[in-house]
Amino acid sequence: MTKHSWSLTDGFGLDNLRRIEAPIPVPGPRDVLIEMRAAALNYRDLVVIDGKHGRAVQPPLVPLSDGVGRIAKLGNEVSDLAEGDRVSPCFFLNWPGGAPPVDLVTRRLGGPLDGTLTTHLVVPASAVVQVPAHLSDNEAATLPCAGLTAWSALQEPSPLRSGETVLILGSGGVALMALQLAKAAGARVIMTTSSADRAARLQQMGADMVIDRSVQPEWSRAARKATDGIGCDRVLELGGARTLNDSLKATRPGGVVILIGNVTGNEAPLFLPFVLSKRLTMQSVSVGSKQAFESMNRALAYHRIHPVVGQVFAFDDAPKAFRALDRHEGFGNICVAITGPEADKPGL
Ligand SMILES: NC(=O)c1ccc[n+]([C@@H]2O[C@H](COP(=O)([O-])OP(=O)(O)OC[C@H]3O[C@@H](n4cnc5c(N)ncnc54)[C@H](OP(=O)(O)O)[C@@H]3O)[C@@H](O)[C@H]2O)c1
Repeated sequence: MTKHSWSLTDGFGLDNLRRIEAPIPVPGPRDVLIEMRAAALNYRDLVVIDGKHGRAVQPPLVPLSDGVGRIAKLGNEVSDLAEGDRVSPCFFLNWPGGAPPVDLVTRRLGGPLDGTLTTHLVVPASAVVQVPAHLSDNEAATLPCAGLTAWSALQEPSPLRSGETVLILGSGGVALMALQLAKAAGARVIMTTSSADRAARLQQMGADMVIDRSVQPEWSRAARKATDGIGCDRVLELGGARTLNDSLKATRPGGVVILIGNVTGNEAPLFLPFVLSKRLTMQSVSVGSKQAFESMNRALAYHRIHPVVGQVFAFDDAPKAFRALDRHEGFGNICVAITGPEADKPGL
């Protein structure tokens, strides 16, 4: 048996993403070998492929952080898992819970560590999480980064409360899971998006109000108007440089802005008197810990939440999945079905 992976072999760029083969790795005493069934893409993976994720992320590299599989072999000191368990590896292999460790970013899947676009993955047994049984493999594959980031954004610095108003920017993987979790928590959800078609999909999913920023570029004003001029209790800031100031304007005095994304750029000017006078809390999120992942899974199972899967590509067609993400096609998380159509089979 052979391990098959896609790897950035000779440099960055999609043209350097190549199929490679290697012997199936043997887990160390405290590791598990996962036979991967599905993987999922995030915006971050495009940044990695383009070589813009910082100096620590270098080829050769197997991309992607998100995925799910079944344990094929246990290290001889592992006693709390069993062969056949369906698990996801954590995004950070070194964050069990509590405050993040100082070397957090050195142990990230999909850069700097080899990621989930592979048939076999060895990770520490302490860094895997059993996934909810009601999910298909493709759905479960979206949880480690996209799903958990949404969960953390609604839990920090304190959990979202029923009846609060949350503004979520965009309709990407993080935003869609945040919508589902926020509705399950009893919140009122306002979203922004870029087309009427996407707006209709978000409304079908339960968004209470959707602002199409292509026709209403002053979306922060619309969000304030929808909250009697007060502003939203919490804003999930996924846009970055070009949206941050509007997100601040859309937040109520004393409200919380959760800093998550940077799709429109990394450096944002801030008009400090405005921020200071509103007494805002700005809380950044970095995916989340294993403990948070387990808490999220309990909520997903209880509320029977299914992450939204959009396009699914065969393992052989993985480069097409990156192109689809880059073109911002479709709606929902883009997955790579490593085991083929079986990864779409509904959960229990
Ligand atoms: N901090 C963390 O731990 C963490 C974890 C995961 C992701 N992230 C970051 O979060 C962001 C989103 O990630 P993702 O994987 O969900 O991305 P994604 O699936 O690629 O979605 C990105 C979304 O951004 C929206 N968007 C694009 N331009 C925008 C603009 N000018 N204003 C508002 N929205 C805009 C688009 O939605 P519409 O077309 O519907 O507007 C698009 O669907 C990325 O910057 C990613 O790096 C951070």
